[in-house]
Amino acid sequence: MCGIIGHVGDGDALETLLTGLENLEYRGYDSAGVAVQNGSGIAVQKRSGKVDELKDAVSDVSLEGDVGIGHTRWSTHGPPTDENAHPHTDCTKDVAVVHNGIIENYAELKAWLRDRGHEFTSDTDTEVIPHLIQYYLDDGMTDEAAFRRAIDELEGSYAVAAMLSGEHVLYAARKGSPLVVGIEDEEFFLASDVPAFLEYTDSVVYLEDGDVVVVDGDGVEFTDLDGDPITREPETVDWDPEQAGKGEYEHFMLKEIHEQPTSLAQAIEGRIDPETERISLDGFDPGTFEHVDAVQLVACGTSYHAALYGSLALNQAGVQATALLANEYSVVAPPVDDDTLVVAVSQSGETADTLSALRQANRRGADTLTITNVVGSTAAREADDALFIRAGPEIGVAATKTFSSQAVMLTLLAQRIAADACGHVPADLESLLPDIGKMPDAIDGLLEESAADAIARDYLDSESFFFIGRGLGYPVALEGALKFKEITYEHAEGFASGELKHGPLALVTRETPVFAIFTGQEDEKTLKNAEEAQTRGAPVIAVCPDDHRAVEVADDHLTIPDVDSELAGLLANVQLQLVSYYAADLLGRPIDKPRNLAKSVTVE
Ligand code: M6R
Repeated sequence: MCGIIGHVGDGDALETLLTGLENLEYRGYDSAGVAVQNGSGIAVQKRSGKVDELKDAVSDVSLEGDVGIGHTRWSTHGPPTDENAHPHTDCTKDVAVVHNGIIENYAELKAWLRDRGHEFTSDTDTEVIPHLIQYYLDDGMTDEAAFRRAIDELEGSYAVAAMLSGEHVLYAARKGSPLVVGIEDEEFFLASDVPAFLEYTDSVVYLEDGDVVVVDGDGVEFTDLDGDPITREPETVDWDPEQAGKGEYEHFMLKEIHEQPTSLAQAIEGRIDPETERISLDGFDPGTFEHVDAVQLVACGTSYHAALYGSLALNQAGVQATALLANEYSVVAPPVDDDTLVVAVSQSGETADTLSALRQANRRGADTLTITNVVGSTAAREADDALFIRAGPEIGVAATKTFSSQAVMLTLLAQRIAADACGHVPADLESLLPDIGKMPDAIDGLLEESAADAIARDYLDSESFFFIGRGLGYPVALEGALKFKEITYEHAEGFASGELKHGPLALVTRETPVFAIFTGQEDEKTLKNAEEAQTRGAPVIAVCPDDHRAVEVADDHLTIPDVDSELAGLLANVQLQLVSYYAADLLGRPIDKPRNLAKSVTVE
């Protein structure tokens, strides 16, 4: 998972490439590089480290030209060195390539090319691509034919952009890794994701697997792998550049936490009517889910926690549902039949593990649905149906606003499936829908009054951080711990509160603060579990409404508005997002780009 940017037009390519790379850095930040077509050939600059280091490197060299490609990398083959950074070139330096994905047969291709005199300078799988193109050029093929032939040899997944010396053209292809084309008059962009070029255009074409494009100053030619023309219509994205910028905030994560009132309002707009108790999910007429007798939800990381939240909401509504880690699905998937609905939950819609589970479900004949934030994503195209969470771009690697929107969408979906499949309107819909409508204001109020920064400071020196919750508080405990460890690098664990006494209690000391989440589901039991930890010295921070009994017992308190028990966990989660953020900030961590991680994981 890496970020690709390409530019063809009249303007200066370098500036566009560097802007694009900065906008894409959330996809990988081990190393970065650019290649620009200048008067005398292809000039390449690449560096290990972040885009800023590349910017320093290019500041005192001439990289003028109006055609170029750039890349920001999350390492898979080979460590993040200058040599392994993209773009990669062939022996003659006449071909430059950037790539996202995995070339599974690169070892055979490399050996084959070595036997024919090609010399390699990196450990990457990508480097075989420019050498293959060069091989076919030497064999007498035209530029386009050599590119196509090289692509034809690749097994695995790829989004590839290539340029050849002396040509005012970019060649690109996609299979299994995202690639979009941006169009603005006579200026054209290629990128892994729309925010890369959002400053320049909102007119985009999402490429599909098997698409090959040739982009020159006059236009874009879309073809399939055989070279036959295909039609791809531009779409207008409704994200604006400001949404993709940091605005007044120091970090994207803080901005995105504060965007939750708006992103949730967008998620529910037109989808609920508290007065008539109607839930309208785009394109899913009442009765759509009548045949569904079991739901399997597949996802990874934060999206898995949202999926778990959704599975519990479905269970509570009387529908048989299981949340499964997408990367385990190929081994542990329960049986499916025509009446099974498999829901792939993925912010990006590009997570390789989740796509693999989705494809397996498609092959096995289940009905499939994806809940995603990205309209042109692979998951949206490969699932039978898609529900969009409308959260706007999320740039911080730590998922925040998308979790809240996923969980609310799954809560609505649970009610709809229950109504269709079980033929009954759950009893609590009367209070649930108005409370969902009030969530944006509730989060707004919570954000204004949160004491999360003080709590983060007070407990920062602890050894380990525990998060406990019951029922719908359990996925929130898992998510609270994931967020905390991901951006602070401190040890954190989430538990079902009742599990604490079955082992983890052995770890509890005065150095292990316990964040206890109260959602109104058997809170007395959760309080007892928290007290069991407190008795052994652990400070307890209760996350609950002001008038909750836990406030008297706990050492500290993070307040949440009093809402339906199906939603309380989501408010608690916002407080925990803030605790993680402020703790990471005090520790001086690179909050938006935590070490070793990237926003979208497109390898299994
Ligand atoms: O794009 P997805 O929602 O499929 O991503 C899945 C996980 O990689 C992701 O949720 C990850 O755990 C978060 N970025 C962590 O904050």
